[in-house]
Amino acid sequence: MKKMKKQPFLWGSATAAYQCEGAWNLEGKGLGEWDVFSHESPLNINGATGDVSCDFYHHYEEDIRMMKEGGQNSYRFSLSWCRILPEGRGRVNEQGIAFYNRVIDCCLKHGLEPNVTLFHYDLPQALAQQGGWANRDILDTFEEYAKVCFEAFGDRVKLWVTINEPKYYAYCSNMVGNYPPNHHVDFNRYFKTVYHEAVASAKAVKIYHDLQLGGEIGIVHDSSNVEVAPQTKEPERIKAIADLFYNRVILDGAILGELPGGLIPWLQENDIDSSYIRFEDTLTLAQGKIDFLGLNVYNRFYITDYTEGETEVFHNNKGAGSTAKEGIRIKNWYETTIDPTTKRNLWGREIYPRCMLNTLMEIKERYGEIPVYITENGHGCYETPDENGMVQDDERIEMMQGYIDFMFKAMEAGCDVRGYYAWSTMDLYSWVNGYEKRYGLVRVDFDNNCRRIPKKSYFWYQKLIQEHQK
Ligand code: BG6
Repeated sequence: MKKMKKQPFLWGSATAAYQCEGAWNLEGKGLGEWDVFSHESPLNINGATGDVSCDFYHHYEEDIRMMKEGGQNSYRFSLSWCRILPEGRGRVNEQGIAFYNRVIDCCLKHGLEPNVTLFHYDLPQALAQQGGWANRDILDTFEEYAKVCFEAFGDRVKLWVTINEPKYYAYCSNMVGNYPPNHHVDFNRYFKTVYHEAVASAKAVKIYHDLQLGGEIGIVHDSSNVEVAPQTKEPERIKAIADLFYNRVILDGAILGELPGGLIPWLQENDIDSSYIRFEDTLTLAQGKIDFLGLNVYNRFYITDYTEGETEVFHNNKGAGSTAKEGIRIKNWYETTIDPTTKRNLWGREIYPRCMLNTLMEIKERYGEIPVYITENGHGCYETPDENGMVQDDERIEMMQGYIDFMFKAMEAGCDVRGYYAWSTMDLYSWVNGYEKRYGLVRVDFDNNCRRIPKKSYFWYQKLIQEHQK
């Protein structure tokens, strides 16, 4: 691992291209897999699209200025692959490059460190049609895209992320089936996707290091700290499986530069295809170790044993009033379960601030002194402004304060945390809940030219940053 220079703690907020930019067909942008899914798929249950979203494409200066005024010193965002390479490879769209130059320069003008993610779920449609992440060609294609970005923006961007939540993306696309290409309970495709993401990420890390641009590069993992419910049979065995399935399958490759020990025999024992794993990739992983780890911290995985019954995966995409189940049950492995002592949001996601401490400690114990950024943490809920147009989001404030307090505890215990990003900068498109579920520190009035109105949490965050920067 490269030694990273110490810098001021980064306090920021985060977005992703498809979720905020809008401008889906402007200035040479190619078609993305999410454009097609949101326009055409019957699985897009609420009919919402990111065509306009909060129109960051035309509001970026206002958003960045508001971050600056809110005391933030960093902005995490992603690049749209098909805005830069409309066909996924080959021809570069200079208008796309020009847009991101404007965004990056605006950040720097306001003293915000850009933290840039190459891939946050939005695959170019041209690549999706060729098998997407299940096609090994993606390794070279992703490398090509990464190089274009490093060469265009690397003089000013010093913090890079290869892939946002490779495991969660693979899980939703191939196990839940609520993200395109919508495969359901397909273990073969799940592991193949994660594997290709791990190797592609390592290739991008290597090429970034080779270019010697003087910055740092990492990967963002959705933290999935596993806890086993009391009275579970064989707790150690199932914890180890869940940890492999959710965490080590990505983290061992990215941090240690090697696949988790025993992965191939374990896949074979479970009748899961491993034929795509190649010896030559061992070297790629070893040469592509990350400089830092980004962790998106929302909840833990709380599980118990599951021996009878069929394998099933559920996701609650409907929110309030829905009786849909949330979680996974895999025969002979485990099932997710509910801890009656903790709160859940309306989509069934557990609110469990302590998982911040637990996940950071576990990373430190398992992987040693890896620098970490909390690249996302936030609270999704329904919101109505009061008579003055203000959103009094005390629930969000209470929740985020709890997670941040546990982050400080982890730092006191020696975890090397370098920054924290609230999800999200402003209200934006939620992948499967459209615009009902809001996460922003700033409200977006979608019916009124996407007018921005800071919420109570925006001011709370501003004060918290001021206090901690003293
Ligand atoms: C993270 C993603 O997993 O969770 C974000 O990186 C996403 O892109 C966020 O929006 C919240 O998820 P959801 O499904 O509640 O919008």
